[in-house]
Amino acid sequence: MSITSTDWAVVTGASSGFGALFARRLAERGHPLVLTGRDAARLDVAREEVKRHTPGAVVETVVADLATENGLEVLLTQLKNKDVDVLVNNAGFGTYGRFAEVPAWRESTLIAVDVTAVVRLAHALLPAMRARGRGRILNVASTIAFQPAPYQAVYGGAKAFVLSFSQALAEETRGSGITVTALCPGPTRTGFTDALKADVSETAIYRKLAEPGPVVDAGLRALDRGRPVVVPGLGNRAMTILGRIAPSGLLIRLTARMLSAPDKAGHTASR
Ligand SMILES: NC(=O)c1ccc[n+]([C@@H]2O[C@H](COP(=O)([O-])OP(=O)(O)OC[C@H]3O[C@@H](n4cnc5c(N)ncnc54)[C@H](OP(=O)(O)O)[C@@H]3O)[C@@H](O)[C@H]2O)c1
Repeated sequence: MSITSTDWAVVTGASSGFGALFARRLAERGHPLVLTGRDAARLDVAREEVKRHTPGAVVETVVADLATENGLEVLLTQLKNKDVDVLVNNAGFGTYGRFAEVPAWRESTLIAVDVTAVVRLAHALLPAMRARGRGRILNVASTIAFQPAPYQAVYGGAKAFVLSFSQALAEETRGSGITVTALCPGPTRTGFTDALKADVSETAIYRKLAEPGPVVDAGLRALDRGRPVVVPGLGNRAMTILGRIAPSGLLIRLTARMLSAPDKAGHTASR
């Protein structure tokens, strides 16, 4: 597909991790960009990185908290009168710990950013995409979407929503020129584990982190091919296949084991 200067790409959570890389790659493809995040200074750094890699790139930044109605409105106002070809719904964060011990406001904020903002942005941009007969939406889910996740109960549920929502939208839009893709990364070296606000470095799942570049490239290849779901990495794909065939009780116990930290004696905490 040829890209014109009016084919905007919007990347949420562009101030860090996957989002900053998506911004770089999409600028290299010739898209003018709208980048958004809460942290103005980190967003400026991301914009300068894009411009350093792609001199002449058009980059607008929008400081907005997507957990809030006001933040969503600020971003959507900036997108008015722009032909958005690519929406990367990437902003998000996780929580970690026993559900009852994580502050309720953090879980609510997680749902607002990881779920509600994804729905609201897709809903706002789809009508214009349909009118133009083209558009691409990439929603960042996670491998955690494939099974319930004890100690990340709300995050796992949120990403399961994103996966299910994306697959449903992909089917609704089939043949319309619009594609919807769920990118499901495994644990990856970004700002994500810091944002969990808990030390997860001893858990089997977060002990080893992948590099973000190949994840973003896999997401963009899937976007180009209009694939509804992509799980980057052989090991991650194997886990999702296991998720489909293993008895659910066993799978949840195994996931709990992999997400819980070993106690001081070196045994995995069984809770
Ligand atoms: N890294 C992993 O292991 C992993 C695995 C699977 C899925 N994911 C998903 O990948 C996506 C990107 O995360 P990442 O790994 O790149 O982590 P990251 O480096 O922490 O980036 C998260 C981004 O989300 C933005 N964000 C968080 N809360 C926000 C809010 N209230 N309003 C607006 N923006 C907000 C952050 O920007 P500000 O701080 O500037 O607001 C930041 O740019 C997330 O959806 C995450 O769930 C990550």
